[in-house]
Amino acid sequence: MIDWHSHILPAMDDGSRDPDESIAMLRELARQGVDTVAATPHFYANDESPTQFLARRTRALEQLYWRTDATIPRILPGAEVRYYAGIASRDDLRSLCIGETGLLLVEMPEIRWTTSTVQELLELSDIHGIFPVLAHIERYLHLQHADVWAQLLDSGIRMQVNASYFLEWRTRRKAMSMLTEGSIHFLGSDCHNLTTRPPRIGEAYARIARKLGTEYVAQMDAYGRAMLTE
Ligand SMILES: [Fe+2]
Repeated sequence: MIDWHSHILPAMDDGSRDPDESIAMLRELARQGVDTVAATPHFYANDESPTQFLARRTRALEQLYWRTDATIPRILPGAEVRYYAGIASRDDLRSLCIGETGLLLVEMPEIRWTTSTVQELLELSDIHGIFPVLAHIERYLHLQHADVWAQLLDSGIRMQVNASYFLEWRTRRKAMSMLTEGSIHFLGSDCHNLTTRPPRIGEAYARIARKLGTEYVAQMDAYGRAMLTE
């Protein structure tokens, strides 16, 4: 299975603090059935340039490479890019996409978005070779008008939710119905550590398998793997 959202790289952000913690998180993801993990450290355009971010990310990856083996999930370097007005006019977004894909994980503000924000997301989805994926949409789903959501989905913007959305009793029914409606494309652990924000993606996939069948989970996985070459 693929984990599309994680903070497993050492000392990049508020996720893993050091290589030991990263390896422990990766082993836990493997135990939960994850074989491929998108490493998506926070990227804030106000704080650093993509070049600076990518240099830091390369160093973080290098600290792990000599300690990885076949039992550890494959790491796809990416970023969780905080939205800001003007993001669609950048010409270096491709460097922040996940692995070799054009999938750009975008973290949106937890407020009701203005018309110009929605318009900019639509512009982002129009950029050749860039496929926006909105991160943990459960955080801002309820703040937007339903027609905004339909418009974004119609324009091909993809949606990621965190595993916890499928596990908490308040939201798990809604999560399952959104999944079957085609409003959720990717699942992520959004793990930051093994204590306060540990990965629970194995449980989420297991719950989906119990409710919708193992074949359904296999199809989700196949969809994700097809995206890896998009
Ligand atoms: Fe995150």
